[in-house]
Amino acid sequence: MSKNTLTLRDNRTGKTLDLEIQQGVAGPPVVDIRSLYGEMGIFTLDPGFKSTASCTSQITFIDGEKGILLYRGYPIEQLAEKSSFSETAFLLMKGQLPNQQELDEFNDLLTHHTMVHEQLLNFYQGFRRDAHPMAIMVGVVGALSAFYHDSLDIHDPQHREISAIRLLAKIPTIAAASYKHSIGQPFIYPDNHLDYSSNLLKMLFAVPSEEYEVNPVIAQALDKILILHADHEQNASTSTVRLAGSTGANPFAAISAGISALWGPLHGGANEAVLNMLHEIGDVKHLPKYLKRATDPDDPFRLMGFGHRVYRNHDPRARVLREEAQKVLTALGRHDDPLFKLALELERIALEDDYFIKKKLYPNVDFYSGIIESAMGIPSNMFTVMFALARCVGWIAQWKEMIVDKDQVIGRPRQLYTGAAQRDYLPINKR
Ligand code: CMC
Repeated sequence: MSKNTLTLRDNRTGKTLDLEIQQGVAGPPVVDIRSLYGEMGIFTLDPGFKSTASCTSQITFIDGEKGILLYRGYPIEQLAEKSSFSETAFLLMKGQLPNQQELDEFNDLLTHHTMVHEQLLNFYQGFRRDAHPMAIMVGVVGALSAFYHDSLDIHDPQHREISAIRLLAKIPTIAAASYKHSIGQPFIYPDNHLDYSSNLLKMLFAVPSEEYEVNPVIAQALDKILILHADHEQNASTSTVRLAGSTGANPFAAISAGISALWGPLHGGANEAVLNMLHEIGDVKHLPKYLKRATDPDDPFRLMGFGHRVYRNHDPRARVLREEAQKVLTALGRHDDPLFKLALELERIALEDDYFIKKKLYPNVDFYSGIIESAMGIPSNMFTVMFALARCVGWIAQWKEMIVDKDQVIGRPRQLYTGAAQRDYLPINKR
C-alpha cells in the first residue's frame, strides 16, 4: 500500500479500495475519488461542497487559515498596491504578468471592443425603470450570445480569445447602461482615451450636456476594488460558470449564469446587504442589539459582510478595502462619514465577541466595499453589478482553463435519494 493513498473499507462487504492522495503546490492534500463508484458502487455526499474539490486549477489560491489570497502566485496586497486592473486581468487570463508591449496591446484590444452592438441597447427599453440592475445584467450579458455569432465556437482558441476580450471590454458598458436606465439618463458611450476604471466612471456619471472630469483618486480606488474582486477560486458563481460551461454552452451564456449566482446575498449580493444593514442599525447605540440577534441561533439575522466559507482569518481583501475606504473618504473630505464609523465600531465589537471568535468569523470583502462605492456616488443597488464586472475576468479565466482541461467532462453531481420508493400510478378516484 502506497503512503500516498487513503484506504477505504466497506464494512458491509470487507472490500477495500486505495484512493490516491494528490498534493497540489499548496493547500490541503486531495483524495481522488473518481474510481469510487466504479470500484465500490458508492457515491459521496457533500452538500455545499465543504470537502470537495471540483477541479484542478492554476489561477487563484486561498489559504483560509492564514488569510492569504494569491492570483497566479502573486499576493493580492501587492497587486492592489502596484498593479492596474487591466494588468491583473492579463495576469489572470494568461498566467503571467505582461511586459509593456503585451500590456499596451491588451489595453488596445480592450479599448477597441468597448462598444456594444447598437441593437443590444434596445434591450434596456424592455426593462422596467425600477428593475434591479443585476436583473438587467443577467439578461443583457446573456443576450450577447445573440449578437456575436462569429465567436461562439468554444473549441476554436481564437473564438475563445475574442469572446473573452469582448466580455471584458463590454461589461463596463453594459453595467453603466443598466445604471443609466434605472435613473432615466441617456447612455454614455465609452471613451477610448480613458483607462478601464476611468472609462467606467465616465459612463456611469457623465451626462451628454456637460463636461465630465474623472477624479483620479476615485478612479484609482475603483481600479483597486476591481483588482480585489477579480477572482476567488471555486466560489459559487465561478463554479456556476464552470458548470454551465461544462455543457458546451457559449461563454456569454455561462457568464450570465455566473451573474445570477453572484446576485444572492450570501455571495456578491452581500455588499448591498451590508449597506442596507448599516442603515438599518443606524447608530452605534443599536449595535449590541444587532450583535445579539446575529448570535442568536433562533434568529435568521446574520451580520452581513462577516464570515466566509474559506477564510478562518482576516479576509486580506477586507483589510485593503478598510484602508482604502479611509483614504477615499479623507480625499473626498468625508473623514467623519457616519456609516464608516459605524462599520469600524461594528467590526471592533464583533471581533471581540465570543461567538465570532469561536466561529472564526471576520469581515469579508463585502464589508467595506459598499462604503467606498457609496462615497464614490455609486448607489447600493449597483454594488453587486460592480462585483460582477470585476469578477467577469475570473469567470473568463476559469472558463478558458476548464475548456482546455483534459479531465473536463460535463458537471453532473449525484444524489442520495430520499423520496418515495417505486410505486404504481393510481387512478384519481382511487387516491
Ligand atoms: N453572522 C452570524 N453568524 C454567522 C455568520 C454571520 N455573518 N456567518 C456564519 N455564521 C455562523 C453560522 O450561523 C454557523 O453557525 P452554526 O455552526 O452554529 O450553525 C457558522 O457560523 C458557520 O456558518 P456557515 O453558514 O455554516 O458557513 P458557510 O461557510 O456555509 O457560509 C457565508 C459562509 C459567507 C455564507 C456565511 O458566513 C454568511 O452567511 N455570511 C454573511 C453573508 C456574507 O457576508 N457573504 C459574503 C461572503 S464573501 C464574498 C462572496 O463570496 O461573494
